[in-house]
Amino acid sequence: MSGLRIGMLTSGGDCPGLNAAMRGAMKACVEKFGEKNVEIVGIKNGYYGLINNQAKEMKRSDFSGILTVGGTILGTKRQSFKMLTSTEDGVDKIKAMKNTYKDLKLDCLITLGGNGTHKTANLLSEEGLNIIGLPKTIDNDIFMTDVTFGFHTAVNTATDVIDRLHTTAASHSRVIVAEIMGNKTGWLTLYSGIAGGADVIIIPECPYEIKKIIEAVRARASRGRGFSIIAVAEGAFDKDEAKLKRKDRLRQREESGIKTASERIAAEVERETGIESRVCVPGHMLRGGSPSAYDRFLASSMGARTAKLIEDGNFGVSVAMVNDRITENKLSDIAGISKPVPVDHQALKTAKQLGISLGI
Ligand code: F6P
Repeated sequence: MSGLRIGMLTSGGDCPGLNAAMRGAMKACVEKFGEKNVEIVGIKNGYYGLINNQAKEMKRSDFSGILTVGGTILGTKRQSFKMLTSTEDGVDKIKAMKNTYKDLKLDCLITLGGNGTHKTANLLSEEGLNIIGLPKTIDNDIFMTDVTFGFHTAVNTATDVIDRLHTTAASHSRVIVAEIMGNKTGWLTLYSGIAGGADVIIIPECPYEIKKIIEAVRARASRGRGFSIIAVAEGAFDKDEAKLKRKDRLRQREESGIKTASERIAAEVERETGIESRVCVPGHMLRGGSPSAYDRFLASSMGARTAKLIEDGNFGVSVAMVNDRITENKLSDIAGISKPVPVDHQALKTAKQLGISLGI
């Protein structure tokens, strides 16, 4: 085989491990096909770069020293599927992406991203491009993979946040609500909440009742614990809100003047218990920093898998970890499907066994 041209792009929100995965892919391809036979083309800023032909030829040295570096050396951009498939602005973006792929003479394209990225990857695959997906996201919500890279680093960071909140909350006898990223799913809040010893964990998969949260805080206070830590997923909502469509829920919140679940929970807990309650939003700090050892391992392993897929001509797939084995799923089987925390998941059972309130 000679002159294999492999494109790479990172799309959607960044996370630790993207660089490690690209390095893994490059190294495994060089190992398998020989350095002289591999050309890597980096597409800048995700699908935006693919639409607008923003690309650079990459040398092996470009991947040096990036195993430990967070973010993405290629840059990324959020481009909704709706926007990518609309031609309202007079640009046929699908056609533009296909043209760039052709102009760059790519033999395949590795797309690193989350659910949105995979949806577009599947569409490009259906359009005849040779696509391999790599599953990244701190949200851990990609269907049919046990874990995504970026998740464990964010769990470590969020746990550190909760640890730090503990000492200040205990000193001041306050309730602190830690708002943890995760708009649709609660994996990050659940894992870091357990690891950080949160007293209450609230996730979108388990719509909460405020009275249950208040009960938990009161019960602690009656045991002489004047402080409580409540870990709340960014996208959490209560039982009444669960009956509404997302857009109606957001409109209702907008009208009430309290936009987030964490703000509402803090305000209601303070009003009902009299305990001073604060909100802490670590936000994008949870996406930053150097990947953990586990994420370096996972991202490198998943990246390396691409070489075998390319050798086999096995495209239209996304790499996955299933039962501790690196494997792959068809993009068409996973595109557009999220992975919420199952209601019978072991981590929820663990939380209950530990006496952590889930607000339900
Ligand atoms: O997809 C990961 C994520 O960090 C979510 O947890 C969060 O809701 C969202 O991205 C934030 O996106 P942005 O960086 O575009 O504000």
